[in-house]
Amino acid sequence: MTISEQTKIELRELMSRYPQSRSALLPMLHLVQSVEGYVSQEGIEVCAVEVGLSTAEVSAVASFYTMFKRYPVGKHHIGVCTNSMCALLGGDNIWRTLSKELDAGHDETTADSMFTLERIECQAACTHAPVMTVNWEFMDDMTEQKAAQVVSDLRAGKDLQATRGAKVRTFKDVQRTIAGFDDGLVDEPSIDASMLAGLNEFKNSTKGGK
Ligand code: FES
Repeated sequence: MTISEQTKIELRELMSRYPQSRSALLPMLHLVQSVEGYVSQEGIEVCAVEVGLSTAEVSAVASFYTMFKRYPVGKHHIGVCTNSMCALLGGDNIWRTLSKELDAGHDETTADSMFTLERIECQAACTHAPVMTVNWEFMDDMTEQKAAQVVSDLRAGKDLQATRGAKVRTFKDVQRTIAGFDDGLVDEPSIDASMLAGLNEFKNSTKGGK
């Protein structure tokens, strides 16, 4: 696949949002991922020309952040949090179940290009540990059985919603959103009462200036 003229126009649109064009590099790389499914060498070269950096400098950025992939990602990216809280509450078992089910290890893509599996770091969602993500949408309070069902439903092409309500889209679709283009989903739910419990407790405890 090549980076089209339309994509170059959109890369320039991202650059126009910043006083210095190089400041747009992160969203530009997400846009490349939304088109190619990963940060390709061509994508790096196009971004370098557009922002006036060397390909080595753009490569350095793309290889520093784990959300940028230098290999083709499957239709769906599955993240399993195996940091302390999630691991203790079942994340390690969920990882083993999915790794076996998909016959894929960390950062590996299934033979049919449907899934890329990744051990991910804490998602600041420990309230709902153990968590997994599908294309970065949260699947809270997972069990091995629920995680396997999510994969089975995606494989069957069923419509799926994140546990907090957002519709699950593809890896590429979500990359376009992260790049900063309107997806019309701004009102989709992303937080729930459990996530706000600590904040509300704090507010109640400080009412009246106490
Ligand atoms: S340890 Fe998994 S979300 Fe925090």
